Amino acid sequence: MPTVSVIYFSGSGHTTKLAEAVQKGAASVAGVKTNLIAINGDDIAKGRYSNEAVFAQLDASDAIIFGTPTYMGGPSAQFKAFADATGGRWFGQQWRSKIASGFSVSSSPAGDKFSTLQYLHTLAMQHSMIWVGLGEMPMQPNGVNRLGSFAGATAQAGQESPDVAPNTADKLTGEVLGKRVAEAALRWNK
Ligand SMILES: Cc1cc2nc3c(=O)[nH]c(=O)nc-3n(C[C@H](O)[C@H](O)[C@H](O)COP(=O)(O)O)c2cc1C
Repeated sequence: MPTVSVIYFSGSGHTTKLAEAVQKGAASVAGVKTNLIAINGDDIAKGRYSNEAVFAQLDASDAIIFGTPTYMGGPSAQFKAFADATGGRWFGQQWRSKIASGFSVSSSPAGDKFSTLQYLHTLAMQHSMIWVGLGEMPMQPNGVNRLGSFAGATAQAGQESPDVAPNTADKLTGEVLGKRVAEAALRWNK
Protein backbone atom coordinates (compact mmCIF):
# COMPACT_ATOMS: atom_id res chain seq x y z
CA MET A 1 0.00 0.00 0.00
CA PRO A 2 1.65 3.30 -1.03
CA THR A 3 2.24 5.89 1.68
CA VAL A 4 1.76 9.60 1.03
CA SER A 5 3.35 11.93 3.60
CA VAL A 6 2.51 15.60 3.94
CA ILE A 7 5.32 17.48 5.69
CA TYR A 8 4.84 21.15 6.41
CA PHE A 9 5.67 24.10 8.63
CA SER A 10 3.08 26.58 9.87
CA GLY A 11 3.82 29.63 12.00
CA SER A 12 0.30 30.66 12.93
CA GLY A 13 -1.89 27.79 11.76
CA HIS A 14 -2.95 28.72 8.22
CA THR A 15 -0.65 26.29 6.46
CA THR A 16 -1.75 23.63 8.94
CA LYS A 17 -5.30 23.96 7.60
CA LEU A 18 -4.13 23.57 4.00
CA ALA A 19 -1.91 20.61 4.98
CA GLU A 20 -4.90 18.91 6.64
CA ALA A 21 -6.90 19.42 3.46
CA VAL A 22 -4.12 17.95 1.33
CA GLN A 23 -3.96 14.90 3.62
CA LYS A 24 -7.76 14.56 3.49
CA GLY A 25 -7.62 14.47 -0.30
CA ALA A 26 -4.85 11.87 -0.30
CA ALA A 27 -6.68 9.74 2.27
CA SER A 28 -9.82 9.77 0.10
CA VAL A 29 -8.04 7.45 -2.34
CA ALA A 30 -8.66 3.81 -1.42
CA GLY A 31 -5.52 1.77 -0.86
CA VAL A 32 -3.30 4.67 0.20
CA LYS A 33 -1.87 5.33 3.68
CA THR A 34 -1.15 8.93 4.74
CA ASN A 35 1.02 10.74 7.28
CA LEU A 36 0.61 14.36 8.33
CA ILE A 37 3.89 15.64 9.75
CA ALA A 38 4.48 19.12 11.18
CA ILE A 39 7.97 20.60 11.19
CA ASN A 40 8.53 21.64 14.79
CA GLY A 41 10.74 24.67 15.33
CA ASP A 42 11.96 23.06 18.56
CA ASP A 43 13.78 20.49 16.38
CA ILE A 44 16.04 23.26 15.07
CA ALA A 45 19.16 23.96 17.12
CA LYS A 46 21.80 26.45 15.98
CA GLY A 47 19.95 26.60 12.66
CA ARG A 48 20.08 22.83 12.05
CA TYR A 49 16.93 20.68 11.89
CA SER A 50 17.14 17.20 13.32
CA ASN A 51 14.40 14.60 13.88
CA GLU A 52 15.21 11.05 12.84
CA ALA A 53 11.66 9.82 13.56
CA VAL A 54 10.36 12.26 10.96
CA PHE A 55 13.01 11.19 8.47
CA ALA A 56 12.18 7.51 9.06
CA GLN A 57 8.56 8.25 8.09
CA LEU A 58 9.66 10.12 4.97
CA ASP A 59 12.17 7.43 3.97
CA ALA A 60 9.32 4.89 4.10
CA SER A 61 6.99 7.06 2.00
CA ASP A 62 6.22 6.61 -1.69
CA ALA A 63 5.16 10.24 -2.08
CA ILE A 64 6.13 13.37 -0.15
CA ILE A 65 4.13 16.60 -0.37
CA PHE A 66 6.03 19.65 0.91
CA GLY A 67 4.18 22.63 2.45
CA THR A 68 5.26 25.97 3.83
CA PRO A 69 3.90 29.48 4.17
CA THR A 70 5.52 32.06 1.93
CA TYR A 71 7.69 34.25 4.12
CA MET A 72 9.54 37.09 2.41
CA GLY A 73 8.95 35.57 -1.01
CA GLY A 74 10.18 32.07 -0.23
CA PRO A 75 9.83 29.12 2.17
CA SER A 76 9.89 29.82 5.89
CA ALA A 77 13.25 29.52 7.64
CA GLN A 78 11.95 26.51 9.54
CA PHE A 79 11.03 24.69 6.31
CA LYS A 80 14.41 25.59 4.81
CA ALA A 81 16.18 24.18 7.88
CA PHE A 82 14.27 20.93 7.31
CA ALA A 83 15.12 21.01 3.58
CA ASP A 84 18.81 21.52 4.37
CA ALA A 85 18.65 18.51 6.68
CA THR A 86 17.57 16.34 3.72
CA GLY A 87 21.08 16.80 2.32
CA GLY A 88 22.22 13.42 3.64
CA ARG A 89 19.40 11.73 1.70
CA TRP A 90 20.44 13.75 -1.36
CA PHE A 91 23.99 12.42 -1.17
CA GLY A 92 22.77 8.84 -1.52
CA GLN A 93 19.80 9.83 -3.72
CA GLN A 94 17.66 7.87 -1.26
CA TRP A 95 14.45 9.66 -2.28
CA ARG A 96 15.04 9.06 -6.00
CA SER A 97 11.77 8.41 -7.90
CA LYS A 98 9.46 9.10 -4.98
CA ILE A 99 6.48 11.21 -6.06
CA ALA A 100 6.64 14.87 -4.92
CA SER A 101 4.43 17.93 -4.85
CA GLY A 102 3.98 21.11 -2.84
CA PHE A 103 1.75 23.86 -1.53
CA SER A 104 2.03 27.31 0.01
CA VAL A 105 -0.06 29.95 1.78
CA SER A 106 0.50 33.71 1.73
CA SER A 107 -1.45 36.79 2.73
CA SER A 108 -1.62 38.34 -0.74
CA PRO A 109 -3.47 36.56 -3.54
CA ALA A 110 -0.17 36.25 -5.40
CA GLY A 111 2.24 37.09 -2.59
CA ASP A 112 5.18 35.60 -4.55
CA LYS A 113 3.98 32.09 -3.69
CA PHE A 114 5.23 30.90 -7.06
CA SER A 115 8.74 31.59 -5.87
CA THR A 116 8.09 29.24 -2.93
CA LEU A 117 6.59 26.54 -5.16
CA GLN A 118 9.60 26.84 -7.45
CA TYR A 119 11.86 26.26 -4.47
CA LEU A 120 9.87 23.16 -3.44
CA HIS A 121 10.12 21.90 -7.04
CA THR A 122 13.89 22.48 -7.05
CA LEU A 123 14.20 20.58 -3.76
CA ALA A 124 12.30 17.66 -5.29
CA MET A 125 14.40 17.76 -8.46
CA GLN A 126 17.64 17.70 -6.45
CA HIS A 127 16.31 14.50 -4.90
CA SER A 128 15.43 13.13 -8.38
CA MET A 129 11.79 12.89 -7.36
CA ILE A 130 8.79 12.91 -9.76
CA TRP A 131 6.87 16.21 -9.48
CA VAL A 132 3.07 16.21 -9.73
CA GLY A 133 1.39 19.57 -10.39
CA LEU A 134 -2.17 20.57 -9.55
CA GLY A 135 -3.66 19.63 -12.92
CA GLU A 136 -6.71 21.88 -12.62
CA MET A 137 -8.04 24.77 -14.69
CA PRO A 138 -8.08 28.11 -12.83
CA MET A 139 -11.06 29.83 -11.16
CA GLN A 140 -13.51 26.92 -11.35
CA PRO A 141 -17.14 27.53 -10.26
CA ASN A 142 -16.52 25.64 -6.98
CA GLY A 143 -13.41 27.76 -6.35
CA VAL A 144 -10.83 25.10 -7.14
CA ASN A 145 -7.58 26.80 -8.17
CA ARG A 146 -9.14 30.24 -7.72
CA LEU A 147 -5.63 31.72 -7.39
CA GLY A 148 -4.51 30.20 -10.70
CA SER A 149 -1.47 28.14 -9.72
CA PHE A 150 -0.44 25.07 -11.68
CA ALA A 151 2.84 24.05 -10.03
CA GLY A 152 1.07 23.07 -6.80
CA ALA A 153 -1.73 24.16 -4.47
CA THR A 154 -1.88 27.74 -3.21
CA ALA A 155 -4.06 29.45 -0.63
CA GLN A 156 -4.53 32.96 0.73
CA ALA A 157 -4.67 33.80 4.44
CA GLY A 158 -3.55 36.90 6.28
CA GLN A 159 -4.37 38.03 9.79
CA GLU A 160 -7.70 36.15 9.93
CA SER A 161 -8.15 33.16 12.21
CA PRO A 162 -7.11 29.82 10.68
CA ASP A 163 -10.72 28.82 11.34
CA VAL A 164 -11.80 30.98 8.38
CA ALA A 165 -8.67 31.31 6.24
CA PRO A 166 -7.67 29.60 4.00
CA ASN A 167 -11.24 29.58 2.76
CA THR A 168 -13.29 26.59 1.61
CA ALA A 169 -12.22 26.99 -2.02
CA ASP A 170 -8.53 26.96 -1.17
CA LYS A 171 -8.94 23.94 1.10
CA LEU A 172 -10.80 22.16 -1.68
CA THR A 173 -7.85 22.98 -3.95
CA GLY A 174 -5.57 21.35 -1.39
CA GLU A 175 -7.79 18.26 -1.30
CA VAL A 176 -7.63 18.00 -5.08
CA LEU A 177 -3.83 18.13 -4.98
CA GLY A 178 -3.64 15.46 -2.27
CA LYS A 179 -5.99 13.18 -4.22
CA ARG A 180 -3.99 13.63 -7.43
CA VAL A 181 -0.71 12.81 -5.71
CA ALA A 182 -2.24 9.71 -4.05
CA GLU A 183 -3.60 8.51 -7.40
CA ALA A 184 -0.20 9.09 -8.99
CA ALA A 185 1.49 7.13 -6.18
CA LEU A 186 -0.91 4.23 -6.72
CA ARG A 187 -0.23 4.17 -10.47
CA TRP A 188 3.53 4.61 -10.01
CA ASN A 189 3.63 1.68 -7.56
CA LYS A 190 1.83 -0.75 -9.83
C1 LIG B 1 8.02 36.71 8.24
C2 LIG B 1 6.81 36.72 7.35
C3 LIG B 1 6.96 36.97 6.01
C4 LIG B 1 5.87 36.98 5.15
N1 LIG B 1 6.08 37.18 3.82
C5 LIG B 1 5.01 37.16 2.98
C6 LIG B 1 5.20 37.33 1.58
O1 LIG B 1 6.30 37.41 1.05
N2 LIG B 1 4.07 37.39 0.80
C7 LIG B 1 2.81 37.32 1.32
O2 LIG B 1 1.84 37.44 0.58
N3 LIG B 1 2.61 37.08 2.65
C8 LIG B 1 3.69 37.00 3.47
N4 LIG B 1 3.51 36.74 4.81
C9 LIG B 1 2.17 36.37 5.29
C10 LIG B 1 2.03 34.85 5.48
O3 LIG B 1 2.44 34.16 4.31
C11 LIG B 1 0.57 34.49 5.77
O4 LIG B 1 0.12 35.18 6.91
C12 LIG B 1 0.37 33.00 5.96
O5 LIG B 1 -1.01 32.75 6.10
C13 LIG B 1 1.08 32.49 7.20
O6 LIG B 1 0.92 31.09 7.27
P1 LIG B 1 1.08 30.31 8.65
O7 LIG B 1 -0.07 30.77 9.54
O8 LIG B 1 0.97 28.87 8.30
O9 LIG B 1 2.41 30.68 9.21
C14 LIG B 1 4.57 36.74 5.68
C15 LIG B 1 4.43 36.51 7.05
C16 LIG B 1 5.52 36.48 7.87
C17 LIG B 1 5.34 36.17 9.35
